[in-house]
Amino acid sequence: MQSHDQEFDELMICRLDNGRKSVDPCTIVIFGASGDLTARKLIPALYHLYDEGSLPTPFKVIGFARREKSDDAWRRELLEGFTKFSRTKNSSPGKWEEFAAHLHYCIGSFDERDGYHRLVTLLDSFGDARLRNNLLFYLATSPTQFALVTENLHESGLLQKDGASDHWQRLVVEKPFGTDLASARELNHSLTRFAYEKQIFRIDHYLGKETVQNILVFRFSNYLIEQNWNREAIDHVQITVSEDMGVGGRGGYYEEAGALRDMVQNHLLQVLALTAMEPPALLEAEAIRDEKVKVLRSIRPMSPEQVGRLVVRGQYSGGEVNGKSRPAYRSEDRVNPQSNVETYVAMKLFIDNWRWSGVPFYLRTGKNLPFKASEVRIQFKRPPQVLFAAQCGTMLDANSLTLRLQPEEGITLHINGKIPGASMQLRPVRMRFSYDSEFGAYTPEAYERLLLEAMAGDPTLFIRRDELEVAWALVDSIREGWGNRAMAEDEFYSAGSWGPQPADGLLQRTNRNWRNPSPH
Ligand code: BG6
Repeated sequence: MQSHDQEFDELMICRLDNGRKSVDPCTIVIFGASGDLTARKLIPALYHLYDEGSLPTPFKVIGFARREKSDDAWRRELLEGFTKFSRTKNSSPGKWEEFAAHLHYCIGSFDERDGYHRLVTLLDSFGDARLRNNLLFYLATSPTQFALVTENLHESGLLQKDGASDHWQRLVVEKPFGTDLASARELNHSLTRFAYEKQIFRIDHYLGKETVQNILVFRFSNYLIEQNWNREAIDHVQITVSEDMGVGGRGGYYEEAGALRDMVQNHLLQVLALTAMEPPALLEAEAIRDEKVKVLRSIRPMSPEQVGRLVVRGQYSGGEVNGKSRPAYRSEDRVNPQSNVETYVAMKLFIDNWRWSGVPFYLRTGKNLPFKASEVRIQFKRPPQVLFAAQCGTMLDANSLTLRLQPEEGITLHINGKIPGASMQLRPVRMRFSYDSEFGAYTPEAYERLLLEAMAGDPTLFIRRDELEVAWALVDSIREGWGNRAMAEDEFYSAGSWGPQPADGLLQRTNRNWRNPSPH
C-alpha cells in the first residue's frame, strides 16, 4: 500500500510557503509558568515544534513565576504535564531530555522589579545577542496583570517599541481580552503605551485550528464553492460549537464570563468572519484582517428590544451526558447558587452587505450538550417546485454543506439521491472529505501553529485591535439587552439536551430548524 505522502507526491501540491518568514533565534518568556495553560498547551506545543525541527537554533524558554523552584524542578513538573496531556505523551524520553535542556526558570513576582532584573541577568547569561534581545513574551496570566507586566518589562529595558533595531520583542496575550468594550479599549491603551500594535499578538486558539484555516482555502481556491457562496444560493448559515463538558473546576472564571463572552465574542465571531468575509486583495495579514473587520462591522446592530427576539440564553440544570450524571450549573464549585450566568447562547444575526443581505446567520454554543462538535453548516435554498420537489414537498431536503471543524474533521456535502430499487424513492446522501482518511490522523494542535507564527512575526492568525473592539461592541449590546433579568423557567435546559426550548423557536418562526451535528 502507498503511504499518504507517496500518494500526495503524485498529485499537484501548490506550496505557498516560499515567502514565509524564517524564525530568528529567540527566547520565549512565559509569564504564568506554573499555570495550567503552560503545562497542558504551551510546553507540549513547543516540544512538538522542536521535535519536527521548526524551532530556531538556538532558542530558549524561560518560565517566570513567583514560587521558588529550580530549573530541574520546573522541568520535572512540565514533564508530568507533558506525559499526561500532550498528543504524543512522552513517547521519546531522550528527545524530551534534549528539549528540556532549553527550559529555564526565573523566580519573580509580576509587581516587583527584582524578578525582572533576575530575568535580565538570566538572558545576559545566555551570551548571545539574539537570545538576549529577540524576545517573545507570552502572557499566560490573568488579564488584570497584562498592563503591569508590560509596564515592568518596559521599565527594565526588555520591551521596546521597536523601530530600526535589528532585534524584536513581541507580546502574546491570552483571552479574555477585556470583559467589555470599555475594558478592552483600556487594555489596548495600556499595552500600546509600550508596544506598537504590530508587536501585540492576541490569541484566539480557534484561528490556530487547521480546519478553521481551511475555510479560506476552501472558499477562495474553489470556483464552484465561492460562486455559490452568497444570498442567491444560500438560505441560511448555522454555526454550532457544542461542548459535552460543564464548567468543571472553572466555575470562578465562568461566573465572570458566561458563554457570550467566553465563546461568542471570540471563537464564534471569528468563525463567522472567515465564513462570511469577502475575498481579500492579497493573501497577506492586513488584507485578510481588513476583510474580517469589514464583515463584523456589517453585522446589523441590535437594540435592547431586538435582543429579546434575536438572542436566546440558557443555563444547564442537572442531567446526564454520555451516561454520566452532571450537576446543575448552580451547584458547580465556586458558582453562586442563584447565578444568572448563561452557559448557552443562540442568536440570529444579519450581515447587511451586498453578498449576505437577507441571509440569517444562526450561532449557538453551550456547555453540557450531548457531545462535542464544532461546525459551520451552509444550508442552501430549496430547488424550484417542479419535478421531484413538486412531488416530495418539504420531504425533499435542501442541499447543505457542513464544514466540520472538530472532531472528525472534514467537509460533507448533503445532496439527494435515489434509493436503489424498482420504486422511485429519494433520500439525502453524503459526499464526504475526511481529514483522517485524506491526510492521515496527524493534526497539529492550534498552539503549535500560533506559537510559530508569533515567533515568525506573522499576525494573520491573531486578532487585530479593531476586530476585537467590533466584537466587543456586539457582545455589549446583547448584554445590555439582557440587563439584570433573572433566568426564566424556559431558559434552563437539562445537561445532555441540545439547549433551552426558545432556541428552537428562533428558527421555527421562519420554518427552519437547527441541524444538530452528527456524532460521527
Ligand atoms: C476556551 C473557553 O476559549 O475554549 C472554554 O474558555 C472552552 O470554555 C474552549 O471550553 C473550547 O475550545 P475547544 O478547542 O475545545 O473547542
